[in-house]
Amino acid sequence: MIEGKAVRLRALRAEDAEHQLRWRNDPEVIRLAAAGDPRFGPTTAEALADRFHRILRLDPRESGVLAVEEKAGGRPIGMVDYRDVDPYEGVAEVGIFIGEREFWDHGYGTEALGLLVDHLFGAFPLHRLELDTWSGNTRAARAFTRLGFQEEGRRRDAVLLGGARYDRLLFGLLRREWEARRRLAADGGHHAPGADGTPTGAQETPGDGSASSDSPKATVR
Ligand SMILES: CC(C)(COP(=O)(O)OP(=O)(O)OC[C@H]1O[C@@H](n2cnc3c(N)ncnc32)[C@H](O)[C@@H]1OP(=O)(O)O)[C@@H](O)C(=O)NCCC(=O)NCCS
Repeated sequence: MIEGKAVRLRALRAEDAEHQLRWRNDPEVIRLAAAGDPRFGPTTAEALADRFHRILRLDPRESGVLAVEEKAGGRPIGMVDYRDVDPYEGVAEVGIFIGEREFWDHGYGTEALGLLVDHLFGAFPLHRLELDTWSGNTRAARAFTRLGFQEEGRRRDAVLLGGARYDRLLFGLLRREWEARRRLAADGGHHAPGADGTPTGAQETPGDGSASSDSPKATVR
């Protein structure tokens, strides 16, 4: 269990599949999380059961999926994941999605991803973390930037959605950058937003993912 202020990350349970089923059949979640990639959704309970069978057996040294739970109501609202941990290069990929729309834009996503980043840099000898999104997902890009991720590249026109082309945005965060932000937050002076996992609000306001190779790269699978 990884505790934040408004959210906690916890191990995935078999019953989380029911939330994942709902989220992966929400067209707006599919559009944002995976630029409409049909490998992400819509999906069926049977397909998800297979996926969960695999996810629940992942080796946490290589990859993992954690449920994001909002603390006030104890309700699963999304998932974070990490994958492709490369112990030689010291690189891993991460992903996030908040499946409950009512929790968007209140800081939960930024806090959840920040907790995962802290956990991974704390537990693994990683040098950098990577993630990506597409140019239509400004909320995701904003949340990643807020945590210190830098846009490192663009695969121009790499994403096709509804007949229109978008760029794939590649983000990276180096350990030294993460450490500098933590020092800044610990100094208490100038506060780096999200560096201490503080959500922007909605404490009173009232999840899936897995890491499999058939999923869109940037999202929790
Ligand atoms: C992307 C996601 C993880 C962000 O989490 P969240 O809890 O909704 O977002 P937060 O409230 O933490 O932060 C969002 C930031 O984007 C900003 N934002 C929100 N809507 C925006 C928009 N339409 N355009 C630009 N910025 C926007 C917010 O102001 C906030 O920035 P700030 O903290 O500087 O004010 C979440 O919305 C989500 O999972 N969405 C659906 C699936 C998805 O997009 N997954 C990511 C796949 S790469």
